[in-house]
Amino acid sequence: MKIGIIGGSGLDDPEIIDNPTDIEVDTPYGPPNSTLRQGRIAGKDVVLLARHGRAHTATPSHVNYRANIHALRKVGCAAILSTTAVGSLRQEIGRGDLVILDQFIDFTRHRAATFHDRFEPHNPAHTPMADPFSEPLRELLVAACRTFGYRHHDKGTVVTIEGPRFSTRAESNMFRAWGADVINMSVATECILAVEAGVPYATVAMSTDYDCWKTDEPPVNWEEIVTIFKENAEKVTSVLVEVIRRM
Ligand code: ADE
Repeated sequence: MKIGIIGGSGLDDPEIIDNPTDIEVDTPYGPPNSTLRQGRIAGKDVVLLARHGRAHTATPSHVNYRANIHALRKVGCAAILSTTAVGSLRQEIGRGDLVILDQFIDFTRHRAATFHDRFEPHNPAHTPMADPFSEPLRELLVAACRTFGYRHHDKGTVVTIEGPRFSTRAESNMFRAWGADVINMSVATECILAVEAGVPYATVAMSTDYDCWKTDEPPVNWEEIVTIFKENAEKVTSVLVEVIRRM
């Protein structure tokens, strides 16, 4: 079984792969955002893709999500694990906590979020999306967090915004009222496409900030996200390696 890994901001480091080789893959949607790095982790075949490109040049709106998912499926990935930094919309989700997402709210507006640009005659494709993240993969991620004793949350609803700007306070409070637990700029789109493509998909999210809903601390900025992510990246890597070992 080949496993795809999509590395988000701060976790697009290909060093975790043994015997890496880079492969170029083309898709009907153009090239993916990075070359695919194939190799092995814990004796399993894996393919790593850097969501925003190896030099982080693709903005959240311009990540080629369709090409990324298509490319991973094309090279034979039967499951996709992804990582992402998220802002916390809940007091109890602290900086450095891991959240194993189980739901999303899609608040994006300017991106291709379906493979179905047109329907086959008399065959509309309306994909069920009630529980979009793969439960078996989620269970593996939760179990790995428990194994290491990391502070984590077994569930969480992510709201994915268009970005690249952060939210206003009014938006941040609205997302809280809607029931979102964390916020980011990529996961919903990627998850939708993986579900449409029939590839089980799950995400380990790392909370890096409190967005801007809290009045007792300054609003989020990018430097904070990078600092907290770097300090805690090792947790995400070890969870991924452990899950892959158990798959
Ligand atoms: N990614 C990490 N923190 C975020 C935030 N506060 N808003 C949107 N995306 C994020």
